[in-house]
Amino acid sequence: MEKKKWRTAVSWHFNHEAYVRGYKLSDLVGNLTFTEAIYLVLKGELPTEAEKQMLDAIFVATVEHSIAPPSVIAARAVASGGNSLHVAVGAGILAFGEAHGGALEGAMKFIQENYKKNPENVVAEYIKLGKRIPGYGHRYYKEYDPRSKKIMDVAKRLGFYGDFCQFAEEVEKAIEKIKGKKLIMNVDGAIAAVVSEMGFDWRLGKGFFIIGRTAGLVAHVYEELTMEKPFSKRLDEEKEVEYLGKMPRELPEKYRKS
Ligand SMILES: CC(C)(COP(=O)(O)OP(=O)(O)OC[C@H]1O[C@@H](n2cnc3c(N)ncnc32)[C@H](O)[C@@H]1OP(=O)(O)O)[C@@H](O)C(=O)NCCC(=O)NCCS
Repeated sequence: MEKKKWRTAVSWHFNHEAYVRGYKLSDLVGNLTFTEAIYLVLKGELPTEAEKQMLDAIFVATVEHSIAPPSVIAARAVASGGNSLHVAVGAGILAFGEAHGGALEGAMKFIQENYKKNPENVVAEYIKLGKRIPGYGHRYYKEYDPRSKKIMDVAKRLGFYGDFCQFAEEVEKAIEKIKGKKLIMNVDGAIAAVVSEMGFDWRLGKGFFIIGRTAGLVAHVYEELTMEKPFSKRLDEEKEVEYLGKMPRELPEKYRKS
């Protein structure tokens, strides 16, 4: 068969109907939950009841986590500049990075590549190189991340607690032992371990967070657009900003044109 420029296995039209992973889209409507449909597009097959419940728990854990994170600040600032909902939500998504949300990809790669190794040796190597271990540490949670604890509990109940989850928990203990400081397994670390158990590739990592947190970003942007005045997201220089620059000075004569 001729190899065409674009290729896809996700969906196709047959007889004027859209089919997703081989299933007629109109058959999925009213029969699948949103989470089941997400599993289908990502994995290519329908989930079992346990897989659906596990993924559902993961999305609920990611849906929102206060006004403080960089993505919400970015989204609300862009909305406050007079932009539409999709532009502001897009700005929030662009703020996901290695330290926020995006750590899921790194944490999945870390767990999938290292889970057969001795966790203490892996941690020692990272610390020696001055590298941060994705999925560990949190600005706010210092003793434990309640979301991670709950995700691990659900994983145990639904049969998704295996080698990847065990490794992820051992890494947390190893960090404390080697670094002498507790860095808790954060929500990205816990989700990374569980979706690895579910057979997802690490390159999908950021996708789980984007899918879940976009709902929270939409809520924040809607609130900003409807509750606040335009330009409300600006800094009070005197109260919030430390000035590190030069004190006022004269422009040298040779630069003056007028
Ligand atoms: C989330 C994060 C930005 C919080 O950073 P923070 O508030 O500066 O962290 P803390 O104040 O608790 O700890 C700072 C110390 O721990 C180290 N540290 C923090 N997270 C670390 C990690 N994941 N791996 C190794 N060391 C880490 C820092 O290098 C620093 O070490 P030092 O005291 O020897 O200089 C940070 O833990 C991190 O980058 N984690 C990895 C990315 C991640 O999982 N992000 C998702 C967050 S939900």
